[in-house]
Amino acid sequence: MNRNKIVVKLWVGIISLTVVLLFLSMIFQTRFLYTFYLDQEIKQVEKDAKKIADYIASSQYNFTAPYEEVIRRVNDIIIVTDKYTRIEYTRGTTEYKVGYVFGTDFMPQIKSFKNVHKRNFMIRNMDTLLVGVPILKNNVEDKVIQQAIIDVGTSGEIKEPTLMGAVYIATPLEQLETTNNAIKLQFLYIFIGAIILASMLSFFLSQSFSAPLVLINNAAKEIAKGNYNTTINLKSSEEIKALGETMNNLAKQLSRVEKIRREFIANVSHEIRTPLSYLQGYTEIMLDGLAESKEEEQKYLNIIMEESIRLKKMVDEILQLSQIEEGFLQLNTSSFSMDALLKRTIVKVYPIATKRNISIKFNNFSDDLLLSLGDENKIKQVVINLLHNSIKHSYNYGNILINSYKQNDRIYVCIRDFGEGIPHEDLPFIFDRFYTINKSKSEESSGLGLAIVKQLICFHGSEITVNSVLGEGTEFCFWLPAFSDGSINKTT
Ligand SMILES: Nc1ncnc2c1ncn2[C@@H]1O[C@H](COP(=O)(O)OP(=O)(O)OP(=O)(O)O)[C@@H](O)[C@H]1O
Ligand SMILES: [Mg+2]
Repeated sequence: MNRNKIVVKLWVGIISLTVVLLFLSMIFQTRFLYTFYLDQEIKQVEKDAKKIADYIASSQYNFTAPYEEVIRRVNDIIIVTDKYTRIEYTRGTTEYKVGYVFGTDFMPQIKSFKNVHKRNFMIRNMDTLLVGVPILKNNVEDKVIQQAIIDVGTSGEIKEPTLMGAVYIATPLEQLETTNNAIKLQFLYIFIGAIILASMLSFFLSQSFSAPLVLINNAAKEIAKGNYNTTINLKSSEEIKALGETMNNLAKQLSRVEKIRREFIANVSHEIRTPLSYLQGYTEIMLDGLAESKEEEQKYLNIIMEESIRLKKMVDEILQLSQIEEGFLQLNTSSFSMDALLKRTIVKVYPIATKRNISIKFNNFSDDLLLSLGDENKIKQVVINLLHNSIKHSYNYGNILINSYKQNDRIYVCIRDFGEGIPHEDLPFIFDRFYTINKSKSEESSGLGLAIVKQLICFHGSEITVNSVLGEGTEFCFWLPAFSDGSINKTT
């Protein structure tokens, strides 16, 4: 895991995001503020130009601008023209002199009594804002005042305003540009600050991301080496903590699987070696003619037979389980009477049960005619495995109860014993292959019975449950679909 790579990637990501956001906000902010101040400026200059225009209009064709307004605009250029665009007065410019022509382009608007303004008007090599207003004689704009004049009836009518000329004020945009640049400079400072902050943030974030990832990576390497006791202790975000937990669980699972595998190899080799050594030993005795009597000969042959059967059962179970797990199992699905199957199986295990005075009771709560749907032979094997377990773990003179009933189109089978029970902590694992609880008691156990049962039941699309209380007994329940006429051809 290259921690620097994460730092660089995070840094690039956060910085790019910051730069883009700041850049966009700078463009919008400066644009917005610039137009805002420009509008304010236009309004102010128009107001001043209007005062000059009104003064000129009231002083009867005297094109001299009023003293205070002109003085107030120290840095501005003021040009007053008559209605033929001939300059009548200038202030602050030598480029335009009295008698020159100025503002012909603006005349159409001025003639229709409108104000004009132009940005970036170059005058005296300066970038200026030019504002022009018409000089109007008899200009009474306010309709209320017009009405008042009519009402008083001094002249009896309102005279139409007439154009006398125009007042132009060119004010340098320098001030505005300075403000704009100041804002841009502020943004630059914010920009630098944000980049420093983002760098720190990306460093700390990458630290908190990569440190646990490096730990997890190292732990994974340890696990890969077979060091399953590795644990990861993380104090980071929930998601990464969860990943650490998953890794810890994975290590635990692997450790458990590894333990089971080792135990299985030990078990199987022990289990196989015992019958094999019996077979070898007794066959040798027979071949060497060491059996002293016919009865003794018979006894040895029986041992050879029993051990061969045991060996075969074990090899069969291992083969069957690997077949199921590799997906080679084929179900021969048909309708069959669960009632009949249970009765036949009980008869089969009866001799083993009676040997230890264990009685098996069967309660059929369902209609005898009701049929289940499934592979009869496989289900028989399920019941045999469960019954063998119940007998094996019952006390002498104990009872085993088999209940069968129908519920919601399913036929349930429950096998209950009142034997030693299963410790609570072992319950989640009893269906695992090769899992046996009490080794000394399970000399004949390979821990494959319940694994096979579970796989067979799962293959039927069904499920098996277990309830057990230590010292009180155990109950296994499974179900199969009840057969109804419509599903007679259903095969899996
Ligand atoms: N009815 C039961 N009562 C108590 N413990 C049980 C019962 N059924 C199963 N177990 C426990 O579950 C373990 C797993 O059972 P499973 O049938 O898979 O293996 P096994 O009986 O030990 O060996 P196998 O069935 O392969 O000969 C058993 O070793 C036993 O400890
Ligand atoms: Mg078993």
